[in-house]
Amino acid sequence: MNNDCAGEAELLSLLDLARQAAQNAYAPYSGFRVGAALKLTNGEIVTGTNVENVSYGLTICAERSALVKAVSQFGPEIRIEAVAIANLNSAASPPCGACRQVLSEFILPEAPVIFPAVQGERVMAIKELLPLAFEMKLK
Ligand code: THU
Repeated sequence: MNNDCAGEAELLSLLDLARQAAQNAYAPYSGFRVGAALKLTNGEIVTGTNVENVSYGLTICAERSALVKAVSQFGPEIRIEAVAIANLNSAASPPCGACRQVLSEFILPEAPVIFPAVQGERVMAIKELLPLAFEMKLK
């Protein structure tokens, strides 16, 4: 679990916060309770959880919920240096594609993302999770 951006102990405590955040999940439709914790470069930690909706497609994932909260609280200059994701279902839950793209907007490329894998946790840099994020560079 080696990474330059955040030490193992720091990632594990971030994971613990993600797990605690998952307690607040609103997931009556899937029963899948997810929590996310973002470590920001300003030293703050912001958590989020999934918030489902009866119109299923309007559901917000835990990662995006945390990110929207972080920008709302600390402004558009925030940068994310580490992400932890947890669920209360003992299941693998790598961040979905939409969350990878949305995280990419504010995250350092080398930032580690720790998430529940088939066995234990896995850590991958966001740039590995989403190697070719959409960006808009007009010619
Ligand atoms: N979910 C997340 O919170 N994060 C992800 O990256 C993928 C899925 C949530 C959405 C929904 O409430 C539940 O997990 C089942 O898809």
